[in-house]
Amino acid sequence: MKSDNVVWHQTAITRQDRNKLHGHKSCIVWFTGLSGAGKSTLANALEQRLYDTGCATIVLDGDNVRHGLCGDLSFSADGREENIRRIGEMSKLFVDAGVIAITAFISPFRHDRRRVRNLVEEGDFVEVYCRCSLDTCEERDVKGMYKLARRGEIKEFTGISSPYEEPEQADITVDTDKQSIDECVDHIITELERLQIFKKTQLNEAV
Ligand code: ADX
Repeated sequence: MKSDNVVWHQTAITRQDRNKLHGHKSCIVWFTGLSGAGKSTLANALEQRLYDTGCATIVLDGDNVRHGLCGDLSFSADGREENIRRIGEMSKLFVDAGVIAITAFISPFRHDRRRVRNLVEEGDFVEVYCRCSLDTCEERDVKGMYKLARRGEIKEFTGISSPYEEPEQADITVDTDKQSIDECVDHIITELERLQIFKKTQLNEAV
């Protein structure tokens, strides 16, 4: 519960100052999709490209964040809701810090993703749907979890025993079972430019 006796403090250096310093707008690039759809791979590949061109970035990843900040949360609907709420708040802080926060969480529920979108200013939340069929994710089974989920050894596993709600209007969609990693990243960067997160000239200049 939030106390009534808490007052918001304005900082001297604003987000706009930090965006100016970094030479690009900050935002949240929010990957969503099934486990094994390629969210972490793409988040890292995208970060590498942006970093190489001098952007301030950070990747927040489900498997990592659930070791620390969200280590107390389960995979029930409530646990996932709180997970995404905390990540949303953390991402917002990074936007204020002038950083492009690239997040890789299954974030299976539309309602939770919408809440993060509504937390920040219009245009600051870019939803990237990592579209990949359940069959392909299960075939890949990088962490061996689908097998365990099918045997009932992992409960409430997304796509098997817990739902995944596809985005109805993602800002960007990539088909990771059809496009290569480079093609996906090219497409995402083109769209980020179109959304004016940063300008192509800036990317080219910095290379
Ligand atoms: S989310 O649903 O709350 O957004 P998050 O992205 O943080 O999930 O964590 C997903 C990762 O946790 C998966 O990539 C997988 O490695 C692991 N995991 C463990 N149990 C589950 C489960 N029941 N459902 C989905 N992922 C799980």
